[in-house]
Amino acid sequence: MAGSAEVLARVSELIGDLKPDDVALLKGLHRLQHEFGYIPKDAIPLLAAQFNTTPAIIFGTIDFYSELRQKPPAENVVSWCSGPACLLKGSGGIRRALEATLGCAMGEASADGKYELQLVQCDGTCQLAPLIRSEGRYIGPLSSSEAIKFARRLKGETEVPVPPAEEGDAAAAEASE
Ligand code: FES
Repeated sequence: MAGSAEVLARVSELIGDLKPDDVALLKGLHRLQHEFGYIPKDAIPLLAAQFNTTPAIIFGTIDFYSELRQKPPAENVVSWCSGPACLLKGSGGIRRALEATLGCAMGEASADGKYELQLVQCDGTCQLAPLIRSEGRYIGPLSSSEAIKFARRLKGETEVPVPPAEEGDAAAAEASE
């Protein structure tokens, strides 16, 4: 990873042309997130100066938007949709299956830093509900047992037998973007 001086130089480049208003602040935060995968803590004072505000406001803004991160992402991030259509179709079971199989709670990374579960909002792809997102792909409709299978495959445990689907589980299908 680049050192702090390099990071700060790059942050300055990325936000230097932005005006001090709320819309530009969000634009700047998204630029940093895209560049680093998260908002580096060292960037906060620069952001506050550029947008003529306080570090507390910058932290508050990052906290408010779930897609903005304060920590580097794990090697494999699995996004779980918390939207109403997914919940109605059984996403709670998918969440529990992923947490148990990947060994991490929602919003956290596994102890080895390899897997992370991220809560995301509905983005309008409800025809695939209940779904997860992984490596830019939408995967759904997904049953709890299929979520276990997915997680085991992600961990390289491809030969582990998969429990049968429960009654009412939807058939799985994978859809590329
Ligand atoms: S509620 Fe999950 S994609 Fe819409």
